[in-house]
Amino acid sequence: MAVIARLAPTVPVTTRHSCSLYPWQVGSSLPQDGPVIGLDLLAGRTVFHYDPWVLYAQRLLTSPNMVVLGQLGKGKSSLVKTHLHRQALAGRQVFVLDPKGEYTPLARLHSLPLLGLGRGSPDRLNPLEPLPDETEQALARRRTDTLTALAATGLGRDPAPEERAALASIAARLHPHALLGDVVRALLEPVQAVATDLHTTPAALAAQVRPVALELRRLLHGDLAGMLDAPTTCRLDPDGPGLVLDLSAVFGSPALPAVMVAAGAWLSRALAPAAATATATAGGSSGRRRVLLVDEAWVLLHLPATTAWLQALSKLARAHGVQLVTVLHRASDLAGQADTGTATQARARGLLADAETRVLYTQTAGERPLLRDLLDLTDVELDLVTQLPPHRALWQVGQHRAVVEHLLSPREAAQLIDTDQHMTARPEHPVRTAGPSDRPGRIDSVGATP
Ligand SMILES: Nc1ncnc2c1ncn2[C@@H]1O[C@H](COP(=O)(O)OP(=O)(O)O)[C@@H](O)[C@H]1O
Ligand SMILES: [Mg+2]
Repeated sequence: MAVIARLAPTVPVTTRHSCSLYPWQVGSSLPQDGPVIGLDLLAGRTVFHYDPWVLYAQRLLTSPNMVVLGQLGKGKSSLVKTHLHRQALAGRQVFVLDPKGEYTPLARLHSLPLLGLGRGSPDRLNPLEPLPDETEQALARRRTDTLTALAATGLGRDPAPEERAALASIAARLHPHALLGDVVRALLEPVQAVATDLHTTPAALAAQVRPVALELRRLLHGDLAGMLDAPTTCRLDPDGPGLVLDLSAVFGSPALPAVMVAAGAWLSRALAPAAATATATAGGSSGRRRVLLVDEAWVLLHLPATTAWLQALSKLARAHGVQLVTVLHRASDLAGQADTGTATQARARGLLADAETRVLYTQTAGERPLLRDLLDLTDVELDLVTQLPPHRALWQVGQHRAVVEHLLSPREAAQLIDTDQHMTARPEHPVRTAGPSDRPGRIDSVGATP
């Protein structure tokens, strides 16, 4: 700055305008309200607080959603673990889609019911289950999106128009308690009404949609048998502390994206307004704030159909004032694969547009063009983001920028983050929390769900 002052004639400017030339001047910090995240290195190492609802109330944000981007091991999950922990301490409900099985300590600490899918777990989820008070049309639309995304994960491509139309027609005819097996049967042997809908014959339709039928059928057999094709064995307690869904049994398997879509489709009931209504009628904390985390969400960004599904989840969250937190690795996760790049990128842009809080950990220099394009980063910000040490991130919070060093308390480090200790103590099958909230959250008999 001193060099600029000597070479250029003095021009008085406000800090608001000068930050376009030099963004790292000491700026004003966000409101000192809400849970602490760490130290704001741009505001003289002052304490950095972050609460999307406080910022929303002060019109600094119009959407609570958050995207966390960064290379492996830079501190993304630790940040979101402490964010959820500190939000839970403030009375917020927290829901977690946990592909790596890292949130067992958080579940233990807050007595969150812990559900595990796979590897002999008795837990079952029906991804087609209706949300409370969902209209027939909304249910059919959501089921179509879920089935399309599930089919895409197996096919490795988006379903063709004919296949998608068949899924939509079948979804519109499913009964309220339908299971994936019903859809597979309806695809293998289409009824006349579905064929008439699509101006074809049942035999011709069966031949056209057979690849989709077989891919969905794979979700009902082998390692996943029963997991996604039975009435749900748990329910979300609208007055409870939240829930952790442990998918680690399928982490690293090709089935992971499908299981994430199926589990997420079921977990989206955490976003439904009925949860808040039920809370209000029960005399509980009406309008309780909720956070839904999808860790390792990059898994879903390789196909337009799954990206679209995640974007729909993000819109649903935004509409209900729930904070959706998605964790990604690279900016290129958001750009899609070469052959599907344009469609995926457009949807990824939508996902970013819905997330006004972006937390950027270290990115490689190769990501610079995409970071500039997708996140509007300046050259100075790009230099920073490609050189950040671990546990420090550039925060874009609406129009505000901060470089934040994430701080862990010794208790958090020991109880939430020191996963080595928890992993070695962890039995083969995920343990349920012994907390009192576990019992009301469970339906003991599989057959008890209508
Ligand atoms: N704020 C922090 N302070 C100190 N150590 C941290 C912090 N955040 C993360 N770590 C350490 O870094 C390791 C990797 O962090 P993690 O959050 O799992 O990375 P990521 O999710 O980006 O792969 C953690 O197990 C923890 O030991
Ligand atoms: Mg992680």
